Amino acid sequence: MFTETRQNALVVGSSQGIGLGFVQQLLVDDRFETVYGTYRRPESAQGLLALAERFPQLVCLPVDVTEERTIADAIAAIQARTARLHRVVYCVGVLHNGDFQPEKSLRQITSENLVRSFQTNAVGAVLLTKHLLPLLKHDQPSVFAAISAKVGSIGDNRLGGWYGYRASKAALNMLIKTASLEYARRSPNTILALLHPGTTDTRLSEPFQRGVPPEKLFSVERTVAQLMVVMDGLSPADSGEFFSWDGARLPW
Ligand SMILES: NC(=O)c1ccc[n+]([C@@H]2O[C@H](COP(=O)([O-])OP(=O)(O)OC[C@H]3O[C@@H](n4cnc5c(N)ncnc54)[C@H](OP(=O)(O)O)[C@@H]3O)[C@@H](O)[C@H]2O)c1
Repeated sequence: MFTETRQNALVVGSSQGIGLGFVQQLLVDDRFETVYGTYRRPESAQGLLALAERFPQLVCLPVDVTEERTIADAIAAIQARTARLHRVVYCVGVLHNGDFQPEKSLRQITSENLVRSFQTNAVGAVLLTKHLLPLLKHDQPSVFAAISAKVGSIGDNRLGGWYGYRASKAALNMLIKTASLEYARRSPNTILALLHPGTTDTRLSEPFQRGVPPEKLFSVERTVAQLMVVMDGLSPADSGEFFSWDGARLPW
């Protein structure tokens, strides 16, 4: 019934920033037939929705990762069109938003903000691995990459601060590492990986870019190109590992 020769990709959290950059590059990459891009609210997804008018192979789907039902609905919509996904990138993340700012001190910790960081940065990704298994499990190679962050490395934590963001990225790493072990049994052609993009010029990093040397602040285009190279080079032995933008392994 399904006779695909080209690949299908899904970018979760593609309304802006790195996720939108992935959609843009996947749309002009001849290997990919259909690109699925998710957004939370049309108001912040104007760029993505405008792309869908120019590229018929782009399918936009609403997903708020804090509501599992929206994940299940989006996966069902993809399954109605195809039996296989070959590349999935989880680009959802939150570091700050209005009153919600990364904690500089224990005094600023609140249960509410910690839960919010975990739900968005970690829980959403593992819920996706739960729902995506039937689409990633097939006889061709497939990759699920979650954009993590080097500040989520426990071994590399020398500065402190940013409790919720750091801990939620460490939790993301553990959840995806654990899912990679289950996928190795149930879907052995799927590679799961955690990727640090490097500091990239987006809404998320904007308030913290002062002091970042220009050569260390990547454009979205550069980051996406670098992460595509890392993903293209992954082998089954790399599943469950944590990589930097240059392909180097990062410490947990
Ligand atoms: N930029 C950097 O320097 C940097 C460095 C290290 C790691 N990262 C990681 O890279 C990833 C992408 O970040 P970015 O820099 O591209 O940030 P961004 O421009 O702020 O994009 C974040 C994306 O996450 C989406 N999102 C947030 N909460 C969501 C939810 N509940 N459900 C669905 N989507 C949600 C946003 O959608 P809305 O438009 O609806 O808000 C947006 O599409 C994140 O995981 C971030 O932690 C970034």
